[in-house]
Amino acid sequence: MTRSAPEGGAVAHRPTSIDETIALLSAQDYVCGRPLGTVAFLALTLGKPLFLEGEAGVGKTEIAKALAAALGRRLIRLQCYEGLDAASAIYEWNFAAQMIAIRTAEAAGNADREMLRAELFSGDYLIRRPLLEAMEPHPEGPPVLLIDEVDRTDEPFEAFLLEALSDFQVTIPELGTIRAEEPPIVILTSNRTREVHDALKRRCLYHWVDFPSFDREMEILRARVPGITETLSAEVIAFVQSLRTEDLFKTPGVAESIDWARCLLALDTVALSPEVISDTLGAVLKYQDDIARIAGSEATRILNEARAKVGRAS
Ligand SMILES: Nc1ncnc2c1ncn2[C@@H]1O[C@H](COP(=O)(O)OP(=O)(O)OP(=O)(O)O)[C@@H](O)[C@H]1O
Ligand SMILES: [Mg+2]
Repeated sequence: MTRSAPEGGAVAHRPTSIDETIALLSAQDYVCGRPLGTVAFLALTLGKPLFLEGEAGVGKTEIAKALAAALGRRLIRLQCYEGLDAASAIYEWNFAAQMIAIRTAEAAGNADREMLRAELFSGDYLIRRPLLEAMEPHPEGPPVLLIDEVDRTDEPFEAFLLEALSDFQVTIPELGTIRAEEPPIVILTSNRTREVHDALKRRCLYHWVDFPSFDREMEILRARVPGITETLSAEVIAFVQSLRTEDLFKTPGVAESIDWARCLLALDTVALSPEVISDTLGAVLKYQDDIARIAGSEATRILNEARAKVGRAS
């Protein structure tokens, strides 16, 4: 069977090497170092879920999007939150539509209860939630299932996930068991607001996504903020990287570097200055206590430190 090539530079097959994995992600503007490229390649090759933990804004969610786009697969996202239960993750019956169908049947004098029952509990009245969607067949191949921020759920849901990820099947009493012919590509992320249970981690390949090095963050800005000069990029990154060593309530991630760079570009900024920094600090720091601590003389000190670093690097 031949498959037509998916759109947007995506490849239909799974990458056959670490380098190819990194190149595929890079074609989606996702900059990926060798350690992350290696686990991503292994997760795809062994069909194991990939568990990514790390600070906020370091590219955990984005890699799932980039992989789906690179492979031409659908991205199915299960956003976790406290109180998320199996019903909201797998399926629900559309009670409102079922009620309308019952009323309509009653009004029409259609009294065949068995037929009505069979119809009401058919696929037409099923609301598919992410886990069920991920297990159903997709013409372009198994989707990427992103189970995002799993640390926000509670332990019973984790136990349920463990089971779902072991057999990739779900049972709907009225319809039977649905089993994924080919398991989805699963990526779990966590911000480590609490430790996720060992049993769940054991099913996965684990990787801690760290803040990028100076050179890698430069590469990310090149990919994500077209039009920015190398000089301004270097200043922004050196400044943000210095900020990350400060004792802040919320350390800025890559997302903040990108946002800040875009703001500076929109303001036609050529180089950082204490004034520009104080005017735009809200793109990098999101807590008033952090802004109050850094604005003013601290910002000037960090800027000088950043300039010295850029000077040494160039
Ligand atoms: N390695 C990277 N290459 C390209 N862009 C990146 C990379 N890492 C982060 N980004 C950019 O940073 C933004 C934030 O990344 P993402 O949403 O994946 O962070 P996260 O780790 O999931 O954060 P959170 O824990 O807050 O959800 C993305 O939109 C993307 O533009
Ligand atoms: Mg995320």
